[in-house]
Amino acid sequence: MTSPTALTAAPEIDPALYREVLGHYPTGVTVVTALVEDEPIGMVVGTFTAVSLDPPLVAFMPTTGSGTYARLAGATAYCINVLAHDQQDLCRTMATPGDDKFAGVAWHRSDIGAPVLDDAVAQVHCTPEQEIEAGDHYIVLCRVQGLEVARPVTPLLFFQGGYGGFSPAGMAARGDADLIAALRLTDTARHEVERLARRLRCEAAVLVGVGPDELTTAFSAYGGTAEMVEALGQRIPLIPPIGEAYVAGAAPEVVEHWLSKVNPKDPELVEQYRTRLASVERRGAGISFLGGDGPVEYEQLGAALREYGTGELTPAREREFRSLLANTACFFQDRDLVPTEDYRVGGIVVPVRNPEGDISMVLRVTQLPEEATGAQVEAWIATVQQSARAVERQLSAGGRDALRDYRAWYDADFPM
Ligand SMILES: Cc1cc2nc3c(=O)[nH]c(=O)nc-3n(C[C@H](O)[C@H](O)[C@H](O)COP(=O)(O)O)c2cc1C
Repeated sequence: MTSPTALTAAPEIDPALYREVLGHYPTGVTVVTALVEDEPIGMVVGTFTAVSLDPPLVAFMPTTGSGTYARLAGATAYCINVLAHDQQDLCRTMATPGDDKFAGVAWHRSDIGAPVLDDAVAQVHCTPEQEIEAGDHYIVLCRVQGLEVARPVTPLLFFQGGYGGFSPAGMAARGDADLIAALRLTDTARHEVERLARRLRCEAAVLVGVGPDELTTAFSAYGGTAEMVEALGQRIPLIPPIGEAYVAGAAPEVVEHWLSKVNPKDPELVEQYRTRLASVERRGAGISFLGGDGPVEYEQLGAALREYGTGELTPAREREFRSLLANTACFFQDRDLVPTEDYRVGGIVVPVRNPEGDISMVLRVTQLPEEATGAQVEAWIATVQQSARAVERQLSAGGRDALRDYRAWYDADFPM
């Protein structure tokens, strides 16, 4: 513990340096609200912090010169509203001095009588307990009276004087410019994708790797009654069982990286995925089946993948997403196709290799006709494989430049 004497004897700290260095530490953004004589008051506060669990205490630190805090200090109940990534405008309104901060702002009164801002991520309902003077700020210690997560989305962050959002480590969305080399490469598959959609009366797409953790839909085409359900540029996680055609037969470190994401970390499940990869590699295609008696509906998986694609998953939501994926292994089980039996196929994925033999993209067909015999499914697989071979021939002829650009971009960003 530092003694008060040591504090006084501390060297002079340049205020600019203090701001500069502490600006390297990011904070969330909250609005502390209260009703004072029935009038809503709000103050933007980045210094909100959890303090104690037992008893439940939180704190925030207003500057002693704040006119807004001078008014808040008279209140008996507060609501600490955690702002969401899309509430920057609200933050600006609340941080601008003036009397009409709440004009046009949607809010309602909490049980303890403080304004709850609509669309904020979470609320901490509390009452002031102690006001401690600390230099040019107060530390306002509050007792928690209630808590809620109203909207579990990613929060607004404040860092070095600017606003931003949160993206989970290793899963950051690629910038548009980064995708150009990937898109150029998949252009070689455009003709075959269109042909596949027409021939199989389905949705056909080409997927390309945009890092060790994701694929993206680079181009898609629609035949028959197939409709667009997945936006171009959709991010597809390389989390088992998703992405098997991209990983089966890839370099050992790619396979191990994919398997390391199996959740829950059940050795039996990992073995099941290994066997599945071996079979996809042997067959040169992966097939997923609709229906089944698994705990997750195929449609639910589609919806979760689309949510993942928005790039706004919080770590908590991502954990839920991974365990949902773990329950979808049932769609990806190996089945020997009996020529005369009927099957409901969810999708077929076939890898496309570059002239060096590495997997560089994946052709995928979905929304295939509802029911088909084993013989028909085998014919579909052969058709997709024919298209994949045609793209490979193009890659070794004209597509070499595109391939070189893509490799150069990928290796610079993701040396493995
Ligand atoms: C992101 C952000 C975080 C802030 N955090 C604090 C804070 O922790 N303490 C504080 O006193 N003021 C903080 N402010 C400034 C206040 O919200 C407010 O703008 C300032 O106190 C205005 O002075 P007034 O209260 O006299 O109107 C913050 C402002 C922004 C934009």
